[in-house]
Amino acid sequence: MYMAVSNKFCLVTGASSGIGKNIAYEMANRGWKVIAIARRSDKLEELAKHLGEDKLIPLVCDVSNFDQVKEASAELMNRELYPSLFFLNAGDGDEEDDTGLDREFHKRIFEVNYFGAISWVSQWIPVLKEKGGGTFVGTSSLQSFVAMPGATAYGSSKSALNYSFRSLDAMYHKNNIRFALVYPGPVDTAMLKTDTPLPGTWKPEKAARYIVKKVLKGSTRIKFPPRWVLLTGIGKRLPDRVFRMK
Ligand SMILES: NC(=O)c1ccc[n+]([C@@H]2O[C@H](COP(=O)([O-])OP(=O)(O)OC[C@H]3O[C@@H](n4cnc5c(N)ncnc54)[C@H](OP(=O)(O)O)[C@@H]3O)[C@@H](O)[C@H]2O)c1
Repeated sequence: MYMAVSNKFCLVTGASSGIGKNIAYEMANRGWKVIAIARRSDKLEELAKHLGEDKLIPLVCDVSNFDQVKEASAELMNRELYPSLFFLNAGDGDEEDDTGLDREFHKRIFEVNYFGAISWVSQWIPVLKEKGGGTFVGTSSLQSFVAMPGATAYGSSKSALNYSFRSLDAMYHKNNIRFALVYPGPVDTAMLKTDTPLPGTWKPEKAARYIVKKVLKGSTRIKFPPRWVLLTGIGKRLPDRVFRMK
């Protein structure tokens, strides 16, 4: 089996809560050194204290701000911290207004969900090329496969990420650089704004364990929970009129 990574150094964005926090735990427990990225420094510090600073390096960065991504990347390179595996997991799932057309809202969502991943890729591709390869794991969503009302910005940002990562994979495969995509369905985190979790929803610990296991085995398309993968498969085949609002 092809091993997608070459050293035991990884970076996780959106590591302050939910799936990203649990990926950080999972990787640290498997002996990896983790660079944990998010905006909330208190949450990152808590995580570092809990896991030990020899295992987790907290770094505050707003991934929607390209200058901050450049600065954080430069800082890591200056400290000779070179991850070979990037979990680009930070996401914004805020609800949109009734029109689905608020330009500023669309831009905000894209800045996090799309550019927040692409910016890291752009900073680290030259390094990975020089070092002989590595892996970027983008967190998309099962929602990117079925166009639902009320998800205009979110669904589009994740669909853009899907396309971009597949295209980049085709371009950089020759450099031994892989682009994997994770497609979660409902996971019980702050982002899932329902009082009662939908049936078949996974806990973030379970989602992170699954993602890490699959990524370390070299999988490049990771979908879960099974019930929602099945429903998405059916939803994809239904005509658009089924989803029309009355
Ligand atoms: N939960 C689900 O049902 C579900 C389903 C499909 C896909 N996903 C995707 O899974 C990923 C993780 O989400 P989650 O469910 O774990 O939600 P979450 O608990 O709300 O976590 C979101 C993470 O993203 C970080 N983040 C948001 N904006 C950021 C920014 N501008 N800069 C840096 N970090 C930022 C947050 O940290 P700070 O606030 O500290 O910056 C937080 O750590 C997201 O990409 C989401 O779209 C989730």
